[in-house]
Amino acid sequence: MATSDQSTSNPPLAIAGKLSTVPDTGKPLKVGIVGMGRVGKRRAGCVQNHPQLELVATCDVDPSLRMPIRGLRVEAYKSGKPVYENNFLESQWTEMLPPKHMEMENVMFAPLVLKGKAVGLIGLANKPGGFNDDDARMAAAFADKAAIALQNSSNIEALRASEARYRSLSHSLEEVVRKKVDELRQAESLAAVGRMVSIVAHEVRNPLQNIMMGVDSMRGVIKGDRGKTEILEEIEYGVSLLNGIIVELLDYSRPLALKYSTCAVRDLVGQTLKTMAHKLERISVQIELEDKNRQVSVDTYRITAVLVNILSNAAEAMPGGGQLKISSEFGESDGVSVLKLSFKDNGCGISEEDMRQIHEPFFTTKTKGTGLGLPVCNKIVEAHNGKLSITSKLNKGTTVEISLPVEKP
Ligand SMILES: Nc1ncnc2c1ncn2[C@@H]1O[C@H](COP(=O)(O)OP(=O)(O)OP(=O)(O)O)[C@@H](O)[C@H]1O
Ligand SMILES: [Mg+2]
Repeated sequence: MATSDQSTSNPPLAIAGKLSTVPDTGKPLKVGIVGMGRVGKRRAGCVQNHPQLELVATCDVDPSLRMPIRGLRVEAYKSGKPVYENNFLESQWTEMLPPKHMEMENVMFAPLVLKGKAVGLIGLANKPGGFNDDDARMAAAFADKAAIALQNSSNIEALRASEARYRSLSHSLEEVVRKKVDELRQAESLAAVGRMVSIVAHEVRNPLQNIMMGVDSMRGVIKGDRGKTEILEEIEYGVSLLNGIIVELLDYSRPLALKYSTCAVRDLVGQTLKTMAHKLERISVQIELEDKNRQVSVDTYRITAVLVNILSNAAEAMPGGGQLKISSEFGESDGVSVLKLSFKDNGCGISEEDMRQIHEPFFTTKTKGTGLGLPVCNKIVEAHNGKLSITSKLNKGTTVEISLPVEKP
């Protein structure tokens, strides 16, 4: 048996038997806790089966026995020197043995001393003929080694624990750095795109304006010539397409400054349908709006642009006509009242591979698309603290769902 001060992280060893059987193998000793107690104000414990110390002698004391630190053990603890009692059965100490403790004719306790402080005890018992001062010196020398072994093992364990801790810390730090670098790269490329877009937009808009002015003055000149008027209309359409692309590019690359106003759901959807009337001619539109007069606080102009983008995609997915269901309801998300809008078409749908890319800027499957529609929609919805999600099945159709806080965040 041995006794240890639990204020050190590692308990000392348990050992019993003849002192002469303890070899100086240099091998570790196996110990573990078998009892707890107090020496004065200090907590102490009995130990056995310590993972870092290999067993060199067995202990006959039942490890589950409650063993308060008292009697002769306290003497060794306090004096810091080995103490022995060869007439144990007749001594005052027998009264302090816990019930069911093995019988002892003689006993010796040697303190494990580290940096001048007893951190545990080795207990030796039943030496034939009893203990003497030589045994006490050997026990003290052995206890010194055991104390150092314990200290080393506790250092190794502490090192292992801190190594594991630093390893996991450095792992999570690596993750954070990688994420931040990615964000920075994206921010840098977005800023570069933004600068480029501003320059291109500026350079392209002036000539476009000149073209439009030219178209206006030509219109006066070619009055009544149908063929030439059609050419002018085509030029006008081309210019409006180019202007639209520039607006999308600017929206995507510049920070958004939202202008909130209140608007009924019915008006949001109504305004969008009005703008889209020509594109929805062949499509049967079904509308189901819950609480349609309820007001929501959004940037009406931007949200209408989002809905126009979504309806354009739906219409483009059903070139030969089809069905579009627009529905809305009010609900709650993360404790916030939200308006949920849903746009369900039965158009061409999106393949699984394309689904992974549709939110990427410039991804398009259309010859005349810029691939900025959805990224701009995402940006506007996110600026409102909302969410946009898309589900689709190839050749079956696509559903776009938007959730927007009812109140300005
Ligand atoms: N309702 C839909 N049905 C089928 N495919 C869709 C639908 N909505 C989006 N997509 C797919 O997502 C791609 C990206 O859409 P996005 O609106 O970002 O760009 P685009 O429509 O191709 O071009 P742009 O909107 O800039 O004119 C589309 O090219 C299309 O493949
Ligand atoms: Mg689009």
